[in-house]
Amino acid sequence: MNRSAFRLVPPAGAPVPLRAVFPSLVERAGAPRGLAALQSELGARSTFVVSSGRAALTILLEALRRRSERREVVIPAYTCFSVASAIARAGLTIRLCDVDPVTLDLDPDALRRLPLHEALAVVPSGLYGLPGDLVGLEATARLFGTSLIDDAAQCLGATMAGRPCGTFGDAGFYSLGRGKGVTTMGGGILVAHRGDLTEAIASIVRELPRASTAETGAAVAGSLLYSGLLQPSIYWLVDRVLDLGGSHFEPEFPLAQLSAYQRRLAEQVLPLAGAYNKTRRDHADHLRSGLEGVAGISLARPVAGASPVYLRFPILTRDSAHRAALLRQLRAAGISASASYPTPIGDIPGISRYLAPDQESCPAASSIAARILTLPTHPGVTARDVERMIVIVGTSR
Ligand SMILES: Cc1ncc(COP(=O)(O)O)c(C=O)c1O
Repeated sequence: MNRSAFRLVPPAGAPVPLRAVFPSLVERAGAPRGLAALQSELGARSTFVVSSGRAALTILLEALRRRSERREVVIPAYTCFSVASAIARAGLTIRLCDVDPVTLDLDPDALRRLPLHEALAVVPSGLYGLPGDLVGLEATARLFGTSLIDDAAQCLGATMAGRPCGTFGDAGFYSLGRGKGVTTMGGGILVAHRGDLTEAIASIVRELPRASTAETGAAVAGSLLYSGLLQPSIYWLVDRVLDLGGSHFEPEFPLAQLSAYQRRLAEQVLPLAGAYNKTRRDHADHLRSGLEGVAGISLARPVAGASPVYLRFPILTRDSAHRAALLRQLRAAGISASASYPTPIGDIPGISRYLAPDQESCPAASSIAARILTLPTHPGVTARDVERMIVIVGTSR
């Protein structure tokens, strides 16, 4: 394959243009008001910005916990490790639910087998920008008197049954971390729909420490660098020097307010989400039509009524050897695909003391962890890259 050794397409990302970074360095009148626009688009009662998506989830859980005796939180057995970190940080117990390998959503049959009458909340994940069955989950949550938290960390701009992800259930949140729909080098937006919950959240958020000067400085430096990092002509070098990826289980992460700089940057980058998501969807459409029916590869199918944003394009390979071979071939062609989260949540070292006793086995989550591969869809991906991906994955054995 004809390609330069000095080009590598990152696995995910959202450009942070310098024209968004520079105006965010200082407070000024007339700047874009992305947060207010998001709030009105969502029809949300209130929004809060905090230091990360996992901080947003911990705060939501803490607010719910103040009103309930229940202590278990149901999450997919295959998801981002930060979800588990947030539950541990809130002092709650994790109840794992197996995942449907076709939709990557919570498996409805597995969910029905769980003791939902003991659950404080159910938190589906919307991995890779594919919404879960939020309409059905809202009904299930109501039936069992549990809360639904709409984790839209990866679903900014996606909809389910025409409603924006993040607006289902009792409350929702988005992530502004690297690799998400838009980024401020870390950050989370929390959206509450119930008046009593809004007050509890507001009182927790008011008490949060402010971002330190060092944290603000790191965000400024990070965003300046990141504006170049996503370019394939630069990423190949960065990839050799820095560990940019990785999913970590860290129950000790900071809970803080978002720095004023990152808040201003959020105002600037949120209006870009629509255009970025359009590109991601277009790339996903091409990948889907090029890869549908390829032997040994299964494509995730969105749940009925969902309009995904495809932060990444997930496929399931035959087995881990097949995946490793594909990752190597794609990399040789200048494309950094990803094996996503390394294990199911239940296999994270040190997780057992946070898990509810008598967990059901979750065989589909283990199989997904061994076989999943995500292809990049972000605005740095070219039509030629998409063709390359289709040829490599489509002819793999
Ligand atoms: C599904 C999901 N939920 C929550 C989070 C937490 O977001 P953050 O990285 O901003 O803490 C992430 C991302 O890491 C995620 O992918």
